[in-house]
Amino acid sequence: MLNFTYLTPTKVIFGKQTQLQTASEIKKLGGSKVFVIYGGGSVVKSGLLAQITKNLEENGLEYITKGGVKPNPRLNFAREAVLESITFGTDFVLAVGGGSVIDTAKAVAHGTANPDIDIWKFWDRSENLTKSLPVGVVLTISAAGSEMSDSAVLTNTEIGRKRGLSTDLNRPKFAIMNPELTYTLPKYQIGCGIVDIMMHTLDRYFTHTKGNQMTDEISEALLRTVIQNGKVAIKDPTNYEAMSEIMWAGSISHNGMTGLGAVTDFAPHQLGHELSAMFDVAHGASLSTIWGAWATYSYIEEPSRFARYAKKVWGITAQDDEQAAKKAIQATVDYFVSLDMPVKFSDLDIGVQSEDILEKLADSCSYDRGRTIGSFRVCDRDDILEIYKLANC
Ligand code: NZQ
Ligand code: ZN
Repeated sequence: MLNFTYLTPTKVIFGKQTQLQTASEIKKLGGSKVFVIYGGGSVVKSGLLAQITKNLEENGLEYITKGGVKPNPRLNFAREAVLESITFGTDFVLAVGGGSVIDTAKAVAHGTANPDIDIWKFWDRSENLTKSLPVGVVLTISAAGSEMSDSAVLTNTEIGRKRGLSTDLNRPKFAIMNPELTYTLPKYQIGCGIVDIMMHTLDRYFTHTKGNQMTDEISEALLRTVIQNGKVAIKDPTNYEAMSEIMWAGSISHNGMTGLGAVTDFAPHQLGHELSAMFDVAHGASLSTIWGAWATYSYIEEPSRFARYAKKVWGITAQDDEQAAKKAIQATVDYFVSLDMPVKFSDLDIGVQSEDILEKLADSCSYDRGRTIGSFRVCDRDDILEIYKLANC
């Protein structure tokens, strides 16, 4: 087990009707002028936004609302929201939605606290983020884990790049998680969420670090739980128990716990971000599209790790580690297919791509040969191209 520091300061308030605690939590944190951010309208339609604003009003909190966050949230929208937030005099940012809304809320908190700095400078590392405003979350989709994570991902359409920023200042102060709020999710978004939750653990699990039993066992239990409950949730999104298990797994999967004491990989996430940046593919769909290709290309670095995954997560054994690894990769891909998730380019609207496009994806993902990705298999620009080629069928 490697040295680690573990910080998860987010207060989790889980269960039915917990959204009614929003205002009291904000008040406990000293908030008085609340900037409420939401997405394309699902929370208007469900009545959740009205319930939240009523709760704020009844508790004497001033607020303004800003809707319109799109999946794969855009930098320009966040910049616009920052200006409105500064004018309003925000002292608390409330996200009502999923990862895209939460990440935009984090950006607004950073931008409002640093009015003289363009927020992209924090994302491109040309400025160091040292202060922000408190962010609270009312979660409506189990997926990105942003409600507890230290990360926020924005897409800069001007340069065609989707980038994450990791800092403890990204950790929300509280996350209100009522599984009932996810009942209105379309099947496709449930599938995307299940893939993303699995991937936040898989991208940590595939590591060469040894002697990390506690973290490994937590990861394997999480994966089994998500796989099992995902089968129920995809058929019946109103199953409270299944939606609860998935929601809590979504937070644990990306709050750091499933990677403690080990080197993490995250190559599939980097590969997926390029698909989202170029084609606006939903995040979970980008991951299911690329994972089988990544795993097929990478398992050879340590087949025994994949064999352990096969046995502990899928109950698969085989005559040797390599056979077990291949079976586990197939089982994972088959599971994604059972959720109706894409597992290759031709399953996406974009279809099979030309060699030229694959080269562009590889250039961008490698920052024009300026970086490698991953650690289980360290992939340079040419490896990245090979992985895209494997998925391009
Ligand atoms: O916009 P609305 O109308 O609300 O609809 C959303 C959106 O279309 C819909 N939705 C959400 N809750 C709903 C609902 N529809 C009906 N009923 C509900 N209860 O779902 C769609 C997707 O929403 P989004 O917020 O984009 O989903 P998700 O949570 O998957 O977030 C994806 C974004 O998070 C980033 C991804 O890259 C992507 O940009 N990630 C953020 C991470 C982080 N901050 O730690 C880590 C992840 O790896 C990921 O990169
Ligand atoms: Zn993710």
